[in-house]
Amino acid sequence: MERLLPSKDTTVAMQRATQARGHTSLHCEPKDVFVQGGETFAKVRPVTVDTSKSTWFTYGGHTDVRLGDIDAVFIRKDPPFDAAYLYLTHLLEVARGKTLLVNDPAGLRNANEKLYTLHFTEFMPRTLVTSDADRIHQFVKDVGDDAVVKPLDGAGGAGVMRLRTGDDNRRSIVDTLTHEGRVLVMVQQYVPAVRSGDKRILLLDGEVLGAINRIPRSDDLRSNIHAGGRVEAIEVTDTERAMIAKMAPRLRRDGLIFVGLDVIGDRLTEVNVTSPTGIQELSQHRGREVAEDVIAWAEQHAQTV
Ligand SMILES: Nc1ncnc2c1ncn2[C@@H]1O[C@H](COP(=O)(O)OP(=O)(O)O)[C@@H](O)[C@H]1O
Ligand SMILES: [Mg+2]
Repeated sequence: MERLLPSKDTTVAMQRATQARGHTSLHCEPKDVFVQGGETFAKVRPVTVDTSKSTWFTYGGHTDVRLGDIDAVFIRKDPPFDAAYLYLTHLLEVARGKTLLVNDPAGLRNANEKLYTLHFTEFMPRTLVTSDADRIHQFVKDVGDDAVVKPLDGAGGAGVMRLRTGDDNRRSIVDTLTHEGRVLVMVQQYVPAVRSGDKRILLLDGEVLGAINRIPRSDDLRSNIHAGGRVEAIEVTDTERAMIAKMAPRLRRDGLIFVGLDVIGDRLTEVNVTSPTGIQELSQHRGREVAEDVIAWAEQHAQTV
């Protein structure tokens, strides 16, 4: 809680919406989740938020709760997806069927945010995943001497770099990101439309919640808010809606309910599932708390588990 930004973080919007709809919001960290006697529990504290105040949240006292006894669990752990995260998904999976899990732990485990896009290749820019430097340099030539390389475990634009034939940093960038050929990276054709923005489309159970556009700084490739990207209002196009309709069955099957797609010039570049952001900016543009839609959805689906 101490590290969250009350006017930016999606988790805070979810807590505010939970409260606004008359529920209690309980908070814990991954280390507080445990399994005993075949059931998943968490050591939690009730949290009350009021983002109009400078001391914007207050905790109640600690209690242990059985996840099966609460209505819904929102898992919003930032990447990297490390061993602690992996084990957390296994613990949470024990509670499947006993409470509503957003997102499903097995879905979180299976869907690397960069690699999951490979199920939807028809919507992506030309893409290579490899750790082989020679293959990368050949790919950059093949796609018009301009590409983007990204680590598979990054977020917020971390480690995302441009690869251009003629740039004498190019070989060094590839060697650094692949750790001299030992670590896989994603290399993608550069999509020039990124200058007019990287669209974040928020989905709820395969349906569009809304979108924001993120314009990169004029001196940066990366549009991420974290990297100084500027946010503006934007609509979802018919082409994007058609793409989402094709993606939705797979997302539903994998229990990926609250998801943020990254789309540059109609091309899908990333499927964010761990802790997608952007709902506060969307709410500012809409003039209402869009996170309440998520909680309303959870109310309906909590009754069915
Ligand atoms: N294929 C691409 N063409 C142009 N720009 C890209 C491309 N892929 C990523 N970028 C830029 O890099 C940023 C971060 O890339 P992304 O794949 O979304 O990784 P993450 O957000 O997890 O760091 C994007 O917001 C965009 O500005
Ligand atoms: Mg992104």
